[in-house]
Amino acid sequence: MPFSLFSHPLAELAKRRLLPILTVEEPAHVAPLAEALLAGGLPLAELTLRTPAALACVKALAARGDLLVGAGTIRSVDDAKRAVDAGARFLVTPACAPAVLEWCGRDDVRVPVTPGCVTPTEIELAGRYGVKTVKFFPASNFGGVSTLKAYAGPLPDVKFIPTGGISEKTLPEYLALKNVTAVGGGWFAPAADLRDGRFDEIAKRVKAAVEIVAAGAAGTAA
Ligand code: 3PG
Repeated sequence: MPFSLFSHPLAELAKRRLLPILTVEEPAHVAPLAEALLAGGLPLAELTLRTPAALACVKALAARGDLLVGAGTIRSVDDAKRAVDAGARFLVTPACAPAVLEWCGRDDVRVPVTPGCVTPTEIELAGRYGVKTVKFFPASNFGGVSTLKAYAGPLPDVKFIPTGGISEKTLPEYLALKNVTAVGGGWFAPAADLRDGRFDEIAKRVKAAVEIVAAGAAGTAA
């Protein structure tokens, strides 16, 4: 199914259940990356603001109009403003930063944001800004699946996007959790593949993950 520019970014993430996290050094990589994502069946991505070219890459990817584009590694209100100006439709932050959450929730902004949260205190802090879907980061360092299972009881209204240290191998166990909206990771597009132009490998990894999501959904329905 194609991506709709009109669907809510978090609804789209919940539908796709995957969030490729891309760190792009070269603007020339944007088009082949987009094609690899689309070939793999996943019309969305988070671009991290970790390279000098990152904002230009967000702009180029968003301007295509055929992918849902978010920006990650948002560490300040300025980062958030620049990312939204470049066309990002959702923001991801490594920390739970009140100033950024406050700006994202302003009536004249209203951009979805998933803040990095690890502890119940951070999760509740995000909740005070109306945020009920958080990034659980770095997932593998902070107990991964086991921690997310422990949060399901006391925090039943909170949804998580675990990222950090997740791989194709561990993807199914995260997808099986009811409090996981989508699973994020950098494993789709390692730096070496971008450097060496192996976009076909990236497309294969995207397709494999999309198939794992579909197999899980079929298993749940059965
Ligand atoms: C990040 O923000 O870098 C993500 O959490 C990706 O982590 P990963 O590369 O370990 O998947």
